Amino acid sequence: MKKQTVLITGANKGIGLETARQLANAGYHIFLGCRDKQRGDEAVSLLHSEGLTDVELILIDVVNEQSVQQAHDEVAKRVDYLDVLINNAGIPGDFPQPATNTPDETFKQVFEVNLFSVARVVRVFVPLMQKAPNPRIVNVTSDLGSLALHSDPTWRHYDVKTAAYGPSKSALNGYTIALAYELKNFRVNAVNPGYTKTDFNNNQGYKTVEEGAAPIAKYAMIDKDGPTGSYFSDYGVTPW
Ligand SMILES: NC(=O)c1ccc[n+]([C@@H]2O[C@H](COP(=O)([O-])OP(=O)(O)OC[C@H]3O[C@@H](n4cnc5c(N)ncnc54)[C@H](OP(=O)(O)O)[C@@H]3O)[C@@H](O)[C@H]2O)c1
Repeated sequence: MKKQTVLITGANKGIGLETARQLANAGYHIFLGCRDKQRGDEAVSLLHSEGLTDVELILIDVVNEQSVQQAHDEVAKRVDYLDVLINNAGIPGDFPQPATNTPDETFKQVFEVNLFSVARVVRVFVPLMQKAPNPRIVNVTSDLGSLALHSDPTWRHYDVKTAAYGPSKSALNGYTIALAYELKNFRVNAVNPGYTKTDFNNNQGYKTVEEGAAPIAKYAMIDKDGPTGSYFSDYGVTPW
């Protein structure tokens, strides 16, 4: 395959779908990762109808080891290597999430998708990325994962405290640093889309999906001397 390839998890809607659109428009071949065949087929049809024909569905439920392995095998049948992995699938968990009274189950569900599954997908897919000339991983995080911002009472989202969701993204940020350190030949970054209008927040976000996906697409496309082990938002470097 001559085009660069990218796998995006959770790409049937929201920021993941729009990231797929932007990267397809930029000339990438898209492996559109979705956990549900019908929702995935609909998303692929939508992009095809826009003329973005280099998009194919890869079924992947990130919490399921077997599903992740099968997704890997499907991609490996099509390409010698994968250029870019975008770990986008994420969940907020049930709200509210007070620090003194959030159920164990909420913590488990949120950390399972937002942290453990990223590590699972990385473990399974990194061998397929090692042969890429410029392998890149983007972990889609949130500024709600920033410990520095959350400790600053003047920050605009200072009062948006979540016992499970924010800390799951802080943990993802920590994981991103460890991953970037280990994968010296990769570019590995955590990227925050910002508060974006999607089903994730009942469409309350103030950014459009186009705006939310833009920094993710940007750091998916960085070249070999681009940054690694960093945390970015649309305004630039974000404090950990
Ligand atoms: N929206 C925001 O304001 C905002 C801000 C900061 C960070 N983020 C992050 O951005 C990412 C995308 O969020 P979004 O706003 O686009 O949310 P969304 O519209 O709710 O989309 C989430 C996507 O993740 C998928 N997903 C959930 N669990 C999955 C699993 N086990 N396996 C595979 N896919 C799974 C969903 O699939 P189904 O359709 O099958 O459920 C969906 O495609 C998340 O990591 C989120 O934390 C969002």
